[in-house]
Amino acid sequence: MSSKVIGIVNQKGGVGKTTTAVNLAACLTEHRKKILLIDLDPQANATSGLGIRKEPGISLYAALQHQAPALEYIRETETPGLHIIPSEIDLAGAEIELSRSGNYLGRLRGIIHENNLLNEYDYILLDCSPSLGLLTMNVLAASDELIIPIQCEYYALEGLSVMQHLIRRLKDSGANPDLEIEGIVMTMYDMRTNLSQQVVQEVITHYGAKVYETLIPRNVRLGEAPSYGLPIMKYDPYCTGAVAYKRLAKEFLERHTPLDSPAPLHKLTFPNLHLAEIPARPEPVAIEPPTTSEIQP
Ligand SMILES: Nc1ncnc2c1ncn2[C@@H]1O[C@H](COP(=O)(O)OP(=O)(O)OP(=O)(O)O)[C@@H](O)[C@H]1O
Ligand SMILES: [Mg+2]
Repeated sequence: MSSKVIGIVNQKGGVGKTTTAVNLAACLTEHRKKILLIDLDPQANATSGLGIRKEPGISLYAALQHQAPALEYIRETETPGLHIIPSEIDLAGAEIELSRSGNYLGRLRGIIHENNLLNEYDYILLDCSPSLGLLTMNVLAASDELIIPIQCEYYALEGLSVMQHLIRRLKDSGANPDLEIEGIVMTMYDMRTNLSQQVVQEVITHYGAKVYETLIPRNVRLGEAPSYGLPIMKYDPYCTGAVAYKRLAKEFLERHTPLDSPAPLHKLTFPNLHLAEIPARPEPVAIEPPTTSEIQP
């Protein structure tokens, strides 16, 4: 199994990291992938967003301190094939503990390997807090690849140069020489504004083909789903947000298809292909969200 650890990072808050982690994870299970989502944010939004109760002591904290095996904290979710290591507020203390430990950068990587998690899961997704603290640094050191969600708004790229600098330093230091940004996901795209288009174009100028073709639209249902503890494909599988995250999962898997496979690595357009997979709806159908190819000059 060519399993991978994918860090979902952006030091900026509220850009759609957790929404992307939860919904990409859930949509990947529809392709029979087994997914472990590790919630590394003491805010525990991924935990509650998947309907798991926050409980004192139920997080990666003890494992980070070598006090218990991570396997003890894995929980099933209501989505078959999607497991989570939850978080809770005490995880914030891990930053301090990590700073005192000898292996303060490599602890998360160590946990993933000690517990053979890569043998159990196709993808391990790591949801980060909006900071560049030691937990996020551990994510950078443990990940094979990074997905960076960027919100379609002014100053979208603000702060990312700091992250790129850190990635370069981690690579150079030997802590994670192969770390790469796998993709940029543009979130909260508003079809009605020129601003969204301008931001996507600016990001494409910086990151080129790293930018996912799939744009995640601003969609009220995506904002509602976490309060029901459900991923979007369970909460409202027909809304534009669900269609977009299903498409993102498909694009993600295409990007991860080995080169010798007959499937194309990148598709430039997404005709109504994806609607065909959506079960018939009694009343009007979801509007297909746009893709980057529709807005490139
Ligand atoms: N495409 C979207 N359309 C509408 N609302 C969205 C969308 N994506 C995310 N949201 C909402 O925006 C808020 C921030 O999203 P999210 O929690 O995913 O960001 P985050 O980057 O994980 O935030 P933090 O940095 O605090 O961890 C949440 O209330 C979420 O429900
Ligand atoms: Mg979050």
